[in-house]
Amino acid sequence: MLNSKIQDAINEQINAEFYSAYLYLSMSAHFESAGLPGLANWFRVQFQEEQAHATIFMNYVHQRGGRVILKAIDAVPTEWAGAADAFRATLEHEQKVTAMINSIYALAADEKDYATRDRLNWFVSEQVEEEDNCRQLIDKLTLIGDNGMGLYMIDRELATRTYVAPSPLAE
Ligand code: FEO
Repeated sequence: MLNSKIQDAINEQINAEFYSAYLYLSMSAHFESAGLPGLANWFRVQFQEEQAHATIFMNYVHQRGGRVILKAIDAVPTEWAGAADAFRATLEHEQKVTAMINSIYALAADEKDYATRDRLNWFVSEQVEEEDNCRQLIDKLTLIGDNGMGLYMIDRELATRTYVAPSPLAE
């Protein structure tokens, strides 16, 4: 049985994952309208990944005999000054998500809930990867600056991203 402090923290995390999904879907819509279909695709895949993260946490709560409580999702921004701006906002948001995961990890350690720590290990690695991907894209976009051809090339590259269901969903 999941202890109530941990259950509450994971329910907050589920809300944060759905907020992330909604944020990236908003970015996807923004770039679709801005004529950058590759960026729109990249954020659409990110949206799918975040929904998967929420689902992994929901499955975990149920596996432990807990109760999932879905809360309202806050409104998200709808405009960004450009691609670099959107990825900077993404990195900033992911750093907050990382801090939330770390604090559940610390709580699970305090409560001697080793199963939750084990489940969170996947998320700890996932956050490292997400932040790193963002940093790399910010670096590339900073390098090209206002160069339209550079942006066109990056957009083509981001168009190739496809969604792959995260491994914990297959468990
Ligand atoms: Fe679900 Fe982007 O972390």
